[in-house]
Amino acid sequence: MTKQKTETVVQAPPPEQIYAEELAHLAKWDDGQRPPNWKLTPKAVVVFIVGSRGEALRAGGHTMIISEKFVGDRALVERCVVTLAGERGLLLVGEPGTAKSMLSELLAAAISHDSSLTIQGTAGTAEEHFRYGWNYSLLIAKGPHPEALVPSPVLTAMRRGHLARVEEITRCLPEVQDALVSILSDRRLSVPELGSLEPAQRGFNVIATANLRDKGVSEMSAALKRRFNFETIAPISDLARETDLVRRRAKQIVAEAGAPLGVDDAVLEALVTVFRDLRLGRTVEGWSVEKPTSVMSTAEAVAVASSMGLAATYFPSDKDVARLLPEYLLGVVMKDEPKDRGKLLAYWDATIKRRAEGDARLWKSLHELRRSLEA
Ligand SMILES: Nc1ncnc2c1ncn2[C@@H]1O[C@H](COP(=O)(O)OP(=O)(O)OP(=O)(O)O)[C@@H](O)[C@H]1O
Ligand SMILES: [Mg+2]
Repeated sequence: MTKQKTETVVQAPPPEQIYAEELAHLAKWDDGQRPPNWKLTPKAVVVFIVGSRGEALRAGGHTMIISEKFVGDRALVERCVVTLAGERGLLLVGEPGTAKSMLSELLAAAISHDSSLTIQGTAGTAEEHFRYGWNYSLLIAKGPHPEALVPSPVLTAMRRGHLARVEEITRCLPEVQDALVSILSDRRLSVPELGSLEPAQRGFNVIATANLRDKGVSEMSAALKRRFNFETIAPISDLARETDLVRRRAKQIVAEAGAPLGVDDAVLEALVTVFRDLRLGRTVEGWSVEKPTSVMSTAEAVAVASSMGLAATYFPSDKDVARLLPEYLLGVVMKDEPKDRGKLLAYWDATIKRRAEGDARLWKSLHELRRSLEA
């Protein structure tokens, strides 16, 4: 482990900061036509998000391999980019933990070099969060005046020609969501108190995300739906790619604690296999499984793998780290419905038992840990 550091370190820097070098390189790599106010061409935006697949891209006398960030269908990312270039709103919908927020942040970082113009939708979000508010002391001192106006992230994005992000849009009341209808269709915002109109600069657009487990998109008004192109983000379809991603993210998280990831590949693959079996209701062998109510998302798999990695770092002992897996799984499975402990036990008694009868030592030892799942 590294020595204690004393300088302060920001916890979650935005992607435009983390990947500043990649963004600068891609801007030089493809100097083709860009939509107005875009920092990169549409092609470079897609490469930034899905990576250059190991290929070193040459620009300005340097080469650079662009890392894969979003694991998924390249065609989907291309459609998202086309939607935004066409100045239509983009709505990313999907189950929790499928990287909707991550994708919207990456798009904003690549296109505007700014992913910070964000509104978090909640039941308490008011129309002024989408429009503007007032600095009341200035308002009282000077009366309605441009300086007293406090712009929302959306208004700031309109002024700069940047992307604004609305997280969990369906959690806002429908009448509040509808503040976006006129912004997206007229591309200007009227400020009656100042008798003024704020026009959106070219490049302005909105990316929203919505979770299918929340109040559905069905409650969005037809007028608002029409102003967005919808893209559904599915969980990662391939076991190997999902395992790779979980390994990569867990490695990063454990590296922040100054240690290598002490969870071996077989354990990671078993972890991701269990997540996928329970998510899909069918095992890799084709045996059927009862799905728990909880979402067995990739994001949760990353959290479990990192916790196991951190446990191995902070509490090193001769205890095999795989022993921790059943209890972490139980924690995820029981999040939404405590009675789902039974479903995990049933999975242990059927699937894990059958795998333990083969010759894989790991499944045998996992099977022997069944007792740690009992109440
Ligand atoms: N397809 C994917 N590609 C890359 N990372 C992924 C993918 N799916 C899940 N992840 C991981 O899951 C994490 C969480 O993703 P994120 O918070 O963006 O999900 P979300 O869909 O917005 O979830 P929620 O609906 O709960 O807000 C990401 O930081 C990443 O580590
Ligand atoms: Mg999200």
